[in-house]
Amino acid sequence: MKDFVKEVLVSEENIEKRVRELGIQITEDYKGKDLMLVGILKGAAIFMADLARSIDIPVTMDFMAVSSYGNTTQSSGVVRIVKDLDTSIEGKDILIVEDIIDTGLTLGYLTDNLTKRGARSVRICTLLDKPERRKVNVPVDYRGFIIPDEFVVGYGIDYAEKYRNLPYISSLKEEVYS
Ligand code: XMP
Ligand code: MG
Repeated sequence: MKDFVKEVLVSEENIEKRVRELGIQITEDYKGKDLMLVGILKGAAIFMADLARSIDIPVTMDFMAVSSYGNTTQSSGVVRIVKDLDTSIEGKDILIVEDIIDTGLTLGYLTDNLTKRGARSVRICTLLDKPERRKVNVPVDYRGFIIPDEFVVGYGIDYAEKYRNLPYISSLKEEVYS
């Protein structure tokens, strides 16, 4: 797969180290609480799997899948829930686990949506953050890495459903898109 990779932006070693650090921090912050990790499919699946195993308190895990409406309504921040949670989150401490925050519209919507369901708290943990692209201000509680405004793949993140299985975060060569 190296043939498709332009530049490695975050190495496998750095991801591993950072995920471990986030796990330690989350463990500290949620001691004695009823933590539920909510992974956003499909991009966050691999991050979720590693992050969950770096947290040293009992957690529950569920997943949601969302898709944003077409470009015309995108600025409203309305996203469609394609797969919802299986259980009630009332009274629970929710940590949304996402692959990347870009404009912030997806996580802005999800935070509101889960808060309205009666969660005790709703926080965000994202592996990657592209702050240059932000349109709405969303508080990011746990962040893996800040990256420049470049399209990236790997460690769960895809281009046309491919490259999710790269063990690092990278940009793609121009010829992949053409
Ligand atoms: P917003 O703009 O709502 O979007 O914060 C977050 C979602 O946009 C996708 N996204 C990317 N997907 N490479 C991708 O494959 C990228 O560089 C990229 N940037 C944003 C992603 O689905 C994320 O959940
Ligand atoms: Mg996503």
